[in-house]
Amino acid sequence: MAAEKPVVAVTCTAPVNIAVIKYWGKRDEKLILPINSSLSVTLHQDQLKTTTTAAISRDFTEDRIWLNGREEDIGQPRLQACLKEIRRLACKRRSGSPEDPLPLSHSCKVHIASENNFPTAAGLASSAAGYACLAYTLARVYGVESDLSEVARRGSGSACRSLYGGFVEWQMGERADGKDSIARQVAPESHWPELRVLILVVSAGKKLTGSTVGMQTSVETSPLLRFRAEAVVPARMVEMARCVRERDFQAFGRLTMQDSNQFHATCLDTFPPISYLNDTSRRIIHLVHRFNALHGHTKVAYTFDAGPNAVIFTLDETVAEFVAAVRHSFPPESNGDKFLQGLPVEPALLSDELKAVLGVDPAPGGIKYIIATQVGPGPQVLDDPGARLLGPDGLPKPAA
Ligand code: DP6
Repeated sequence: MAAEKPVVAVTCTAPVNIAVIKYWGKRDEKLILPINSSLSVTLHQDQLKTTTTAAISRDFTEDRIWLNGREEDIGQPRLQACLKEIRRLACKRRSGSPEDPLPLSHSCKVHIASENNFPTAAGLASSAAGYACLAYTLARVYGVESDLSEVARRGSGSACRSLYGGFVEWQMGERADGKDSIARQVAPESHWPELRVLILVVSAGKKLTGSTVGMQTSVETSPLLRFRAEAVVPARMVEMARCVRERDFQAFGRLTMQDSNQFHATCLDTFPPISYLNDTSRRIIHLVHRFNALHGHTKVAYTFDAGPNAVIFTLDETVAEFVAAVRHSFPPESNGDKFLQGLPVEPALLSDELKAVLGVDPAPGGIKYIIATQVGPGPQVLDDPGARLLGPDGLPKPAA
């Protein structure tokens, strides 16, 4: 009989993704199956990532989870669905495999600790990175090698897109059991090296309507959402994949903005209506359109998820000028030195022409800070034992 190892621990990281063709609405609430396909860009983990350690041991008497240092309820249905699914896959694979390093490990209890390198309160999509990281880490610890879309998806729909780097589509699938509702890479992160992403953090407040409840109400009440899913998104998926393949920024940017606008239109069409954008979000939209109009073509594009923060796509050559335009329109209030985070951006002077075009009253403090980032890779395994979030006893390491 193989010797028992007290603890097997694995630590992984996973990225945030931002949809350019939005997922909004489920056809199956339990299996988390969407009413339309979606396509996203994976953001670089140097700026935004979740780190998760999972450890299994025969000595553990119950499953436990700690998020950002605080113990949370492992009984949450979505966490339970992920755990159940990974154990099912582990069982399936293990039956009859004599090389199992920890025999019957799928029956061991697990301890999980997870942390974000960005403030959860910033209102950025942390659940996608969180559940993708959970699925990826559990798969490593339980020795599962099959497609992890279902495991991540059962945590949060958009999480399955964070299982890959670069540009990723989540194919809605047709089957009732969801087996064909999977994420797939459209192009790797090296495909479009000039592409840049700026996250304009508008508000750190908690949102009024979460995406799960919001999309459920939209499915029940919005005829526009049904029209979007059936008649608009299929062609947009094809066109967006082409834009990415051909690195056609003009068309990519335009379609990204149109799809974000249509998603927010379906929110307004929901009854009672949902509004995620605020005055600052709308000012950003106008700023982008004025900036593009001055240049005579689409140099910058915005997209908004279920909150007021803007995510901006642009090319390397335009970042400095656009950041200067943002600073001009939204002068930083208190944290001038921390206003720009992430990738370095050269300072740029605005032309008088641009200043005149942007000539609306400035809105000091409207944008709290900017995170500059780029397209990045998918989940990674960290081999360095120092990166572990759980100690040898299986409990969270005290914060350094
Ligand atoms: C607006 O994936 O958070 O960000 O599946 O209920 O967990 P659940 O919803 P979630 O919804 C994301 C919605 C969105 C658009 C997108 O990311 O495609």
